[in-house]
Amino acid sequence: MRAGEFSKRRQRLLAMLDADSIAILPAAPARTRSRDVEHPYRPDSDFYYLSGFPEPEAIAVLVPGRRQGQFILFCRERDPEMETWNGRRAGLAGAVERYGADDAFPIADVDDILPGLMENKERVYYSMGTHPELDQRMIEWLNRVRQKARAGIHAPGEFISLDHLLHEMRLIKSAAEIQAMKKAAKVSAAAHCRAMQACRPGMMEYQLEAELLHHFMVNGCRHPAYPAIVGGGENGCILHYTENESELNDGDLLLIDAGGEYDNYAADITRTFPVNGTFTAAQKALYEVVLKAQYAAIEQVQPGKHWNAPHLAAVKALTKGLIKLGILKGTPAKLVKEEAYRRFYMHRTGHWLGMDVHDVGDYKVDGQWRELEPGMVLTVEPGLYIPAGSKGVAKKWWGMGIRIEDDVRVTRTGHEVLSSGVPKEVDAIEALMAGETQRRRRPVA
Ligand code: GLY
Ligand code: MN
Ligand code: MN
Repeated sequence: MRAGEFSKRRQRLLAMLDADSIAILPAAPARTRSRDVEHPYRPDSDFYYLSGFPEPEAIAVLVPGRRQGQFILFCRERDPEMETWNGRRAGLAGAVERYGADDAFPIADVDDILPGLMENKERVYYSMGTHPELDQRMIEWLNRVRQKARAGIHAPGEFISLDHLLHEMRLIKSAAEIQAMKKAAKVSAAAHCRAMQACRPGMMEYQLEAELLHHFMVNGCRHPAYPAIVGGGENGCILHYTENESELNDGDLLLIDAGGEYDNYAADITRTFPVNGTFTAAQKALYEVVLKAQYAAIEQVQPGKHWNAPHLAAVKALTKGLIKLGILKGTPAKLVKEEAYRRFYMHRTGHWLGMDVHDVGDYKVDGQWRELEPGMVLTVEPGLYIPAGSKGVAKKWWGMGIRIEDDVRVTRTGHEVLSSGVPKEVDAIEALMAGETQRRRRPVA
């Protein structure tokens, strides 16, 4: 993403901040995986959204109306020896030249400089509780300013979370963000195709996870947006199954929920398909109930419709389908009202999608479901889960976990499915998997 994109975001936010205020956003800390090994570093989404700065140990400060410049970045200084061991740093000059900071100061000096920037401000925009390691220091900085009262210096009296303003901005995606999300969705859809083509009975779930991760990384999605769920048979009924270490059985369905992250934007796609490439009659019947529900829900993704409209459409369609298959008994209206579907469909039909998989943004405004607007991106992901032993349900449905999830952008006239690069119709899935019969016949190594 170009530097201009971040600068535009800062200008928009600065215009919304009160004149006598200061906004403080810390970078995410590096996190330990074990002993002295760290997890791959992932910037804090809010911090990165405004700064584009990819390093830890940094704090972004916005000061509306500051004469010497409104964007200040505290970051690590260049250090040839540290950089030899741990990688390059932008340093103070880089923060100004490459990341558009008006001023850059060493992070080591933040305790001396930041209280001065807070002097004579009325309010501080800072999200308490998100970075506990910084909350305590924030109080110390505030007390430093309070101690100067006798010198006629006024300390801020209000702390306000920046979340509301910033997350409303993040909810409506810019053209550049949509480009990044399209790339994440395109690569992820192709990764799902690759997994379908590689799948055959006897493989391990993690071997398909490897196919997905390989495709993500080769195509510039350096990390999965969340741990991939690769659940064969019964495992598909565990919503957040991530062990991925069972063998895939002939005759079972396989549920894969996986998405890559591109330039810190997520894709989130689920497909469910038969391990051996051909749906049984029962699998096809249940699958088509979910598919119909998903189409009905996607149809509701239009500007002016409210957030809950896709979910309502999905639960209606799922309930009707379950009645038709004899899994639920009663009238659709009554069963929907009683939420009888919840036994088999216990999650909601989607969530906002963006830099975070479960992205930020309110779902209700003034107590009412909010209206969909162009630029919002959401997932549509109905499912049905019938684990073995489900009482009162015919055995032929047991062991099926089905979810179909796409990433959908609200446009001015309706919607666009960003993840359409992987098939979801029964025939199309079977055709894609059959195209690889030669490979699938090969014995497992
Ligand atoms: N992969 C998490 C979700 O679908 O919400
Ligand atoms: Mn998902
Ligand atoms: Mn999802």
